[in-house]
Order: sequence, then structure tokens, then C-alpha cells
Amino acid sequence: MSSKDNPSPRGESTEPTNIVIFGATGDLTKRKLMPALIKMVEYGLVHPQSRIIGVANNNTEAEWRDLVKAGLEKYLDDGAMSEARWRSFSAMLKMVPGDLADDDTYARLAESIETLGGRKNAMFYCAIPPQWYPAVTRGLRQAGLISEQEGFRRIVIEKPFGMNLQSARELNGELQTAFDESQIYRIDHYLGKESVQNLLVYRFANSIMEPLWNRNYIDHIQISAAETLGMEYRAKYYENSGALRDMIQSHLMQVMTLVAMEPPVEFTANAVRDEKIKVLRAIRAIAPEDIERMAVAAQYASGVVEDEKVPAYVAEQDASPDSATETFAAVRFYIDNWRWQGVPFILWTGKRMKRRASEVMIRFRVPPFNLFDSHASPPKANALVFRLQPDEGIVLRMNAKMPGLTTDVQRMVMRAPYARDDMYVPEAYETLLQDVLLGDATLFSRADEVEESWEIVEPILEQWKDRFSISRYRAGTWDVPEMDHLLEGCVGGWHKPT
Ligand code: BG6
Repeated sequence: MSSKDNPSPRGESTEPTNIVIFGATGDLTKRKLMPALIKMVEYGLVHPQSRIIGVANNNTEAEWRDLVKAGLEKYLDDGAMSEARWRSFSAMLKMVPGDLADDDTYARLAESIETLGGRKNAMFYCAIPPQWYPAVTRGLRQAGLISEQEGFRRIVIEKPFGMNLQSARELNGELQTAFDESQIYRIDHYLGKESVQNLLVYRFANSIMEPLWNRNYIDHIQISAAETLGMEYRAKYYENSGALRDMIQSHLMQVMTLVAMEPPVEFTANAVRDEKIKVLRAIRAIAPEDIERMAVAAQYASGVVEDEKVPAYVAEQDASPDSATETFAAVRFYIDNWRWQGVPFILWTGKRMKRRASEVMIRFRVPPFNLFDSHASPPKANALVFRLQPDEGIVLRMNAKMPGLTTDVQRMVMRAPYARDDMYVPEAYETLLQDVLLGDATLFSRADEVEESWEIVEPILEQWKDRFSISRYRAGTWDVPEMDHLLEGCVGGWHKPT
């Protein structure tokens, strides 16, 4: 292995575990879970005595193995899938065929859970549509697979975690009747991204930022995820979701909590989550009459993205031709506490935008007095940009003297890439799977966080659900004029990633 291949393990080792995947033939398993697991096995982050047990209907074990292999050939990002590599990984694979609604499936699963290294540890990964979570929880409980007497038992739940506050509460209730909260891992893969975790390190491992990190110096903050992708094959899900649910309620609000939270007393799951929930509780409720002013919804029309002609959202497979589902959403939030009173947090996301980039942009106040007034360009407000992806890193925009005989001011941009080319940067799923195996829930959402974030967006969802029309932007552009109104009064206006 080169140094790039060395993921610098955290010094703790994982125990041999039965890694059970519900939805073993699904897209998430193929694209994300298996590529993460094979690397983790090779790096020693998954104990070599572990087993990966796929649960799925309609496939024989041989067919499933072929699917996994084909998926690895397509999605592995660290080199070719050699026969030797496949042979050693596939020795860990085992399949339990069966319907998730059938009690026998869980009885057979219970039989297949092995004693590994003296314990029967099991992690249950729900890579399935959320409507199946209650059936799986019930099945596991009935088969006696939840008790931790013989080893740990942890359940991993993917988003969407409910479709609104009520369904999220029901789901939490269902899970909590079977599992203790400490056994539940609600994944938000944004929290597994290296650059997102770096937000915490940047804030709390440097002393120079803290004095500036508040309403006295910051004008506003924009947290964004612009994508160039359209629907691919997901319009069926997206029709009932839309951008507000899909990205803002989950990923972007989680990022907002990391940007806005107070320093936790220690870096443990509950200490960090206790601070995050305080941020969510302090978010000002948006009154129905203010929603039009505080939120923007739009949908992509046809256009050209990365030199390719792409269809309008309404022409995507499985989208309704008169759909008013938003593929772009933005909300202006306020956090009513001492640190952030009056500072707008603008969260926005869009599909089929001009460029793919996720960022946190902190815009500072303009200098209180312009000493260099008599010359061409006045100093601009400083901006600190955390590029979450791609090209992870930090950019600081400063003012500096323009070389020459005047005191004209020019914009100076300082860039700090997050990792050197020879460094290993794990994928979000590698980090999160390892955390589940280690029992570290710091990067997972707690029940109260999920419910609180639904409660915050609920009034907007309510108002948007009955709309018949929606404004359109051309795919491949930033053409959402409503954003200028949403950012009214914010220094520098809408920040589009460059
Ligand atoms: C998912 C959303 O949670 O995140 C997708 O459902 C979105 O619609 C994806 O494309 C974005 O993730 P990433 O890691 O590509 O930014």
C-alpha cells in the first residue's frame, strides 16, 4: 500500500461483527456500502472475522454475488477489482433470501448470525425504502435479535427519516419500542464527509476564529449544495419529496448546526448533539404569512448542463407532466440566541445548476469606515468559504493593496486545500460505517434533532403542498431571480460558487 492507501486508523479496533444489510440488491448497497466495506476490510477497519449478510428477495445467492461484483467493478474508486481482491472479500459474503414482511426471514436471519470471536455482535443496515423500517424493527424484535446479551446490536437507518414531523415521530416511536436510543444510528451522510467534520476542527482547534464567530462580525451565512445532476431514476421518490425535504431538512440543517453551535464540553456523541439541538431549538419559527418572503421554490426547465442538453424536470421519467415539485429550494433562517441574533442563515440547494459545489460561506461585515475612499474600488466585505465538495478546502477573501503608486484596493484570495494529493481521504460511508462498528454516534442524528428539524420546515411544507404552479429556471444556470429578494440586505447578495 502507498501512504495514500493508509487511512490512519483511529487506534481503536472494531470487533468481529455480523454486518446485516437489508436491501442487499439495492442501489445504495451497490454504489456506496459495498465499495466502502471492501476498502474497510482491506485496511483492517472491519475485523477479518466479520461476515456481511445480505437480506433480499428474488435473488439466489449466486445472482447476488454477481450483482455485488459488478457493482464493485463499476463503483470502486481506488483501482481495479482484481480476482484476488474479489475472492478474499467474497469469502465474507453470505445471503439470507426472504421477504421483509415474512417472519420466517428473521428466524432464518437469527440462525445465520454467527458467534464471531466469542460474541454475536450484529449491525443491521436498513438500505431499504422507509416504509419498510417498521416491518424490519418488528421482525428483528420477534426473532429476538435486539437484545444485547450476546453482543452489541445496532440498527442503521437511512434518510429520509419520515416525510414530516408526524411520520418522523411515529418512526422514532416504532424504533424506540424495540431499540434503546444508543442502539439507533440515523445516517446523514453529509456528517460523514471529511470537509464537514473539518468545520468543527476549524472552529474549535483554532483560537483566532472564536472572537469573530458571532453577530458582531458576521453579516450573514450561506450554506449551499448545488448539483448538476438531475433526477436520474429517482423522480418517483422526488415527486413526494422535493428539494426542501431532500436536502435542507436533513443535510444542510445538520451543517448549519455545526456552524452555529457552541463549543461542546467534550467531543462525545451526546455532548456534541446537546449543542446541536440547542441551535435547532433557537431557530425562529417562520409564520405562514412570511413564507413567501423567507423561502424560495423553483423547478428546472430544459437546458444545457456541462455541454449536454437535458430535459425539464416535468419530462423526467416518473415525474408528473404538471408537477410543481421544487428542484431548487432556499430558506432564510434566523437563530434567536446571543451569538446569532439578527444574522441571516440562508440555506439553498438546487438540481441541474450551473456547477456542482457544496459550500459554507461566511460573509463578514463591511469595514466600518473606508480610509481609501478617494480611490477606485472600496474594500469589499471579507468572506470565508468552506468548500465542502468538490475541491475540498478553505478560501479566505481579503482586501489588499493593489501594487502601484495608489492605495487602490484589490481582492486577494487565499486558498488552503483540505488534503494533499498523497493523503487518504475516506468516503463518508467509510467513516460512518466504522463509527457504527465502534459504537460512536457523534456523527449521527439523535431522535430529538430529527424531530426538531421537521418541526422547523413543517410550515413551509404545509404551504407548498397545495401549490399548482412554480417558477422555473433554465437547467445549467443560476437563473433564480427570487434569490435576490431572499438575500435582501445581505452584503454581497447571493453567493454562487465559482
Ligand atoms: C442525497 C439526496 O441525500 O444526497 C440526493 O437524496 C442528493 O438527492 C445527494 O443528490 C447529494 O449527496 P452528495 O454527497 O452527492 O452531495
